[in-house]
Amino acid sequence: MTPGRFLSFEAVAGDYDQTRVIPDAQLKETARILARESHLDRGGLFLDGGVGTGRFAAPLARLHPGQIIGADIAPAMMERIGAKAPPGSLSLVRADLQRLPFRRGVFAGVLLVHILQLIEQWKLVLQEMRRVLAPRGGVLFLGIEQGGRSTLVDFYYERARGRHVLAASLGSGMAPALAYLRRVERAGGLGARVTLLETPQLAWKRITPIARTLEALAGRTFSQMWDIPDESHGALMDETRRRAELTFPKPDAAEALSSRFALYKAWWP
Ligand SMILES: C[S@@+](CC[C@H](N)C(=O)[O-])C[C@H]1O[C@@H](n2cnc3c(N)ncnc32)[C@H](O)[C@@H]1O
Repeated sequence: MTPGRFLSFEAVAGDYDQTRVIPDAQLKETARILARESHLDRGGLFLDGGVGTGRFAAPLARLHPGQIIGADIAPAMMERIGAKAPPGSLSLVRADLQRLPFRRGVFAGVLLVHILQLIEQWKLVLQEMRRVLAPRGGVLFLGIEQGGRSTLVDFYYERARGRHVLAASLGSGMAPALAYLRRVERAGGLGARVTLLETPQLAWKRITPIARTLEALAGRTFSQMWDIPDESHGALMDETRRRAELTFPKPDAAEALSSRFALYKAWWP
């Protein structure tokens, strides 16, 4: 399979952290779960594939110094990690997840969060993750934030769909990725065992000011919006601002958004 197109986050690195907020307690808990499930206490390397601004790699590096590697295609995203991780505890590599510069079987664990929908040849990414994982005992984690989306973002998307300007995602959602991992190899899958980890503690509520949501929408922080023509984006923003004024008339209005982080674990016994 030849590598295909993907969406780098180079141009939105400055805004990324404001739009993807997971509270510290849940990030630390996620790091603890990743470390426990991939037996990092016994040593070994852990890869955060598409590390971005280090939301997960930094707390993991604080827990297990010296063993964490982050790979991303966008240097500007990785620059944002800065002081989030203790010096020397997190190594960063500019690399395409479709062909990693690592030897076969070297990682105890690999994490992918919000990656596969951005990469056309997402199956190649999953094959590559399997290649670099330790053949027995290596664990692939697929994470996804659920809920937590403003009604105004939903409104914008719904109107954009109505105007036929919302592009289909380049890669895969969670369900086809899990099916591909689970499918037996003779049927063209990767023959992994896959389970959803029980993580009731990875749920939270967040108060988000309406002004911040409108700012993020206007700045096209969400990747589905990048290809919308300027003229349509302008019109959609006008509609969304009008909707905001009607639904949230107070200037300092905010929404309480409930989110959870779901974590799937795949392994090859
Ligand atoms: C939505 S962000 C997720 C970042 C991080 N995993 C998180 O959850 O905060 C997606 C990241 O994948 C990176 N990316 C996209 N295509 C890639 C590829 N082919 N190889 C490596 N990184 C890629 C983007 O640059 C971006 O930093």
